[in-house]
This record gives sequence, structure tokens and C-alpha cells, in this order.
Amino acid sequence: MIKETELKMLFDSETIQKKVAKLGEQLNNEYGDEILYLICVLKGSVMFLVDLSKHLKMPLRMEFIRLSSYGSDFTSSGKVNAVDISLPDLNDKNVLIIEDIIDTGHTAKFLIDFIRHNFKTKSLKFCSLLDKKIKREVEIDPDYYGFEIDDKFLVGYGLDYDGYYRNLPYIGYVET
Ligand code: IMP
Ligand code: MG
Repeated sequence: MIKETELKMLFDSETIQKKVAKLGEQLNNEYGDEILYLICVLKGSVMFLVDLSKHLKMPLRMEFIRLSSYGSDFTSSGKVNAVDISLPDLNDKNVLIIEDIIDTGHTAKFLIDFIRHNFKTKSLKFCSLLDKKIKREVEIDPDYYGFEIDDKFLVGYGLDYDGYYRNLPYIGYVET
């Protein structure tokens, strides 16, 4: 177990909130008053979804799915496990996937392929708070992202280490 005092600060709460507000503004400009379906990938994206959605002005639906790829170590397994992927009819809808972080890209690709395979959406875009571009194993680029980051293992603001630290209002990292 890592102690909170061992965490190094990467983005404080104010920095995150400013970025989230900016992303909200971008999304308001993009979608105008069209209905938007947000797909929140639990559990990591929950903080981001909650804060981001407060800035959005269009009629909004929120859907929650659960995917998992990480074990209790620091590396992505590459295999995506669909714990709960029940979704409403997304045919002809504007769909925006909300993620905390894109790392290898396997999770993002799995979900995009799943939605494309099952629905003919009006639009399908991807918004991730964090982008670890350097770790990418599959070709995937978020339409919107908050911060590009190095290869660090991050915790806080939804991100966990072994299930802990999702509640931190800031994003920190552990030296590995
Ligand atoms: P990917 O499939 O490798 O892109 O990993 C995506 C998922 O792994 C994210 O949605 C996170 O839940 C988790 N993840 C990736 N990097 C980190 C990290 O630095 N800290 C905590 N979770 C992470
Ligand atoms: Mg996630």
C-alpha cells in the first residue's frame, strides 16, 4: 500500500477544474443544442463525468458502463473485460465517450469497435481527461483531451491504485 504522503503532485484541483471547464466550453461549441449521450466508463471516469457535465448546456443523457483492463499492478493487461456494457439504443444519436485516461488504447478501441458494431450513431467521439500518448499500442486519438502526460502511474480524481485514491481532488503520481 502506497501512503498518500508518498504521492507527488501532478495537477492540483484548480488546474483540473480549469481544464474541465475549457473542455466543457469546447463541447458546448461543438454540439450546440443537439441531444448528446455521454458514455461514462466506470469506475475511473466518474469524477471527470460529474464535473464536466455541470458545464454542458445541451440536453444530456448519461450512460454508465464498466470495463476493466488493469490488474492491481502498474501495467495495462491489454485485454479488456466488459464487466457491464448495457447501453440504450444509440442509433442516430450523438455519442461521446468519457474516459479518465487513454494509455495503451486497448480500452478505447474495444469500446469504439463495440459501439460501431452495434449501432449506427449520428456521431461518435471520444473525450479523455488524460492522454498517455507515449504508451499507445493501438492507433487511437481522442477527439478531445485535457492533458498529455508522460509515462507515469497516476492516481486521484477517479484514477486508482489497487482500488484506492479515486477520491483525491488532485492527480498525483507514484514513482515506480
Ligand atoms: P488502456 O486500455 O491501456 O488505454 O487503459 C485504459 C484504462 O486503464 C483507463 O481507463 C484507466 O482506468 C486505466 N489506467 C491507465 N493508466 C492509468 C494510470 O496511470 N493510473 C490508473 N489507472 C490507469
Ligand atoms: Mg478508465
